[in-house]
Amino acid sequence: MVAARWNCFSFQLVFAISFIFSIAEVCNGGRTSSFVRNSDLSRDMPLDSDVFLVPPGYNAPQQVHITQGDHLGNAVIVSWVTPDEPGSNSVFYWAENSELKNSAQGIVLTYKYFNYTSGFIHHCTIRDLEFDTKYYYEVGIGNSSRRFWFVTPPAIGPDVPYTFGLIGDLGQTHDSNSTLTHYELNPAKGQTLLFLGDLSYADAYPFHDNARWDTWGRFIERNAAYQPWIWTAGNHEIDVVPAIREVIPFKPYTHRYHVPYTASGSTSPLWYSIKRASTYIIVLSSYSAYGINFTI
Ligand SMILES: [Fe+2]
Repeated sequence: MVAARWNCFSFQLVFAISFIFSIAEVCNGGRTSSFVRNSDLSRDMPLDSDVFLVPPGYNAPQQVHITQGDHLGNAVIVSWVTPDEPGSNSVFYWAENSELKNSAQGIVLTYKYFNYTSGFIHHCTIRDLEFDTKYYYEVGIGNSSRRFWFVTPPAIGPDVPYTFGLIGDLGQTHDSNSTLTHYELNPAKGQTLLFLGDLSYADAYPFHDNARWDTWGRFIERNAAYQPWIWTAGNHEIDVVPAIREVIPFKPYTHRYHVPYTASGSTSPLWYSIKRASTYIIVLSSYSAYGINFTI
């Protein structure tokens, strides 16, 4: 009996040891890629980087970006910032191959965050657009006006081909720049970008220096002015700092990045849905309840 037990135990021991060795062997996958992560964390691009250049001309619109403006894709929200004065809230737009220029009137707002005061942030929804059509649009006045374009999606349906890109945690480091460039050069040609939260990482700076929200807006303009970015807030958008009496969650984000939440019957920009081509996109920010019980 004792011998039998020992035999059994020794068998288990041998089995356990051989199991551990086999696991160790399985776990040693070897080198699967030539990629070696940079030991130095990528740093933010300096303020004088070309990707942050302010467009020329007095009060020229900057940080231009667009997103879907309704539930089905027939509208676009155009947003931009004028630095010196409110200027015009109008967007002029026209379909390619059309002589008829339309205009839409938007709103302008500003906000303060500790010792920072924003520029004049414009949001204008242009509606009743045709599906699958290229439109040009212009913002700003006179010599400082700027022209961009976008293509509306095809009508919604179950088998409508459409290509989305996905980016999250972008920030404004040198790696951020190569990430955006990879997206732009990808042969799959993303037509709309789903942004998964964590935009500028301005909250990494003392007092969440909101000037880094402005640099980020200028950085992404090269893509976000030409195709919709569908926005979700992440933890880096919370921006609550009681020590400097900043206790309204998502203040910079919600002032700068408008979304079509009312079109889906939502009561908050932190959750909403849109349809686009063959997709039904539901946006949920898991941080939306943050700060509800906050008091100072
Ligand atoms: Fe993140």
